[in-house]
Amino acid sequence: MFLQVSLVVILVLLASMAYAGIQGAPWVPTWKRDMKRVWELLRLQSGEKFVELGCGNARVCRYMKQQQPGADVTGVELSILQYGIGWLQNRLAGSGVKMKLENAFKHDLTGYDALYLFLMPETYQKIRPKFEAELKPGARVVSYVWPIPEWEASKVDELEGAPKMYYYER
Ligand SMILES: C[S@@+](CC[C@H](N)C(=O)[O-])C[C@H]1O[C@@H](n2cnc3c(N)ncnc32)[C@H](O)[C@@H]1O
Repeated sequence: MFLQVSLVVILVLLASMAYAGIQGAPWVPTWKRDMKRVWELLRLQSGEKFVELGCGNARVCRYMKQQQPGADVTGVELSILQYGIGWLQNRLAGSGVKMKLENAFKHDLTGYDALYLFLMPETYQKIRPKFEAELKPGARVVSYVWPIPEWEASKVDELEGAPKMYYYER
């Protein structure tokens, strides 16, 4: 019985991970050294609200919260496995990062001051209208590796041997 239950749990976790991969991107973390670049671009102020869409195990979120403990930091993740690992790591670290098990396309973006995402380029294309409809004027967005189609970046952060980062202001 224990074996059957374990098998079902593993299958559900793998299916949810595969589903998230199809919905937005498979799990590939932002390089550790690049988290500083995200921070340098967004420089959250105390009281600001930050969200990471497709946060994986939320390590970028934890890094942002460490840099600015006064910020309200939320990670949105669709894969149950990544969500569970991130949730546990947040609890163990007492990070204060909030996590939502939710599809990024369903998450309300209206209150956020800053947003970070590392998804597939076709997902950036699909989610762009949602950004345009919901993000408030002045909201800052950083995308990793690929630009957001049809948006003009205020800054392109380049570092030799590392993926580009694109910074936008709505
Ligand atoms: C390329 S990884 C990036 C992980 C993390 N943001 C980082 O940079 O370390 C993409 C993550 O987004 C999640 N994801 C994919 N599509 C999603 C969606 N529609 N809504 C929420 N999360 C999604 C995947 O499960 C995966 O963990």
